[in-house]
Amino acid sequence: MKFQAIRTAACACLLGLCGLVLALPGSAGEPVSRGDVKGPYVWGSVQNVTRLGHLWFSGQPDAAGFAAAREAGVSVVIDLRNPSERDWDEEVIVEGLGLTYHNVPVSGAGFDPGAFGRIERLVDEHDAEQILVHCASSNRVGGWLAVHLVLEEGMTEQDALTVGRLAGITKSGIEDRVHEYLVGERARQSLAPLKQGLMTALRGAMAEGPEAALQTCRLAAPSVTLGAQRPGVRVGRTSHRTRNPVNEPEAWMRPLIAHYLETPMQPSPPRVVDLEARGKGYVEPIYMQEMCLTCHGAEIDEDLLALIRGGYPQDRAVGFMPGELRGLFWVVMAPED
Ligand code: HEC
Repeated sequence: MKFQAIRTAACACLLGLCGLVLALPGSAGEPVSRGDVKGPYVWGSVQNVTRLGHLWFSGQPDAAGFAAAREAGVSVVIDLRNPSERDWDEEVIVEGLGLTYHNVPVSGAGFDPGAFGRIERLVDEHDAEQILVHCASSNRVGGWLAVHLVLEEGMTEQDALTVGRLAGITKSGIEDRVHEYLVGERARQSLAPLKQGLMTALRGAMAEGPEAALQTCRLAAPSVTLGAQRPGVRVGRTSHRTRNPVNEPEAWMRPLIAHYLETPMQPSPPRVVDLEARGKGYVEPIYMQEMCLTCHGAEIDEDLLALIRGGYPQDRAVGFMPGELRGLFWVVMAPED
């Protein structure tokens, strides 16, 4: 999201309406700065109400708080709380006031790229409207804002955290989550070629039949892994039940596999760990899909199984169910100088 209202502002200027248009932060390449955060505003008992451009931030509003938000011009609400955190139906209250309601649960224990991607898309979709993003205490909200400012506005992490604190971060744990998310983002970029290469190899080869696919996979998987490497960065796949012993987990990966096994059958956010002198480690879970059953499922074609066993005598990667944890993508990034 690039504070697109700016484009509207630029158009209005061409029409000679400049004086009517509020200058918004982030316009014409101007960096967002801490001074751009306005507030705190008073909306009854709502805590930490602040504003940056068309985005408003706060702790949990009550019905009177949402009415005050509407008075202030807010037309869209993005709620970052998990519905299980409360015992009333916020959507009914918000929509009852004529505002649009979106719920994107974010956990303070680990920021999920899927959820953050959804918030980003909503902010983009409603870029001509005033949006209120709230959680319970505005900590998660400030955490999302800090990440957003680094990734979308090019701000440094330190500056983004300063702005994030103005918009509600009070807990050091949330600042740690911001840092982890940004480290994770670098890791995800390093993984992208590996993921893409594997999927292309798999899809292409499956079109020729699983036996041909097996040959391709066997040859392609390690070289794709190698091809994705960058200086100071190693990437790969591992599993608690490997097919190729080369993919056996390194010591630091084992507790992470155990962590994901505790929450099987559901997507779980990636994790970043500190490997001290070796840098940072990143993992994200890989779950079984229908298309994986051919070679990793419980009922594998006899001839294909013979071929697999021939190529991988120590194969333990069979008998997986759809949705089950199959293994992890991992990245190790050397410390930055
Ligand atoms: C055509 C057969 C085939 C299909 C389909 C297939 N795989 Fe594999 N898979 C393999 C082979 C062969 C290897 C060993 C690759 C190597 O030598 O590194 C492997 C390795 C892996 C590994 C690395 C860890 C290990 O066990 O060595 C993971 C993780 C994995 N597959 C996940 C998947 C997922 C997820 C899917 C579905 C999206 C899938 N595979 C579909 C054949 C297949």
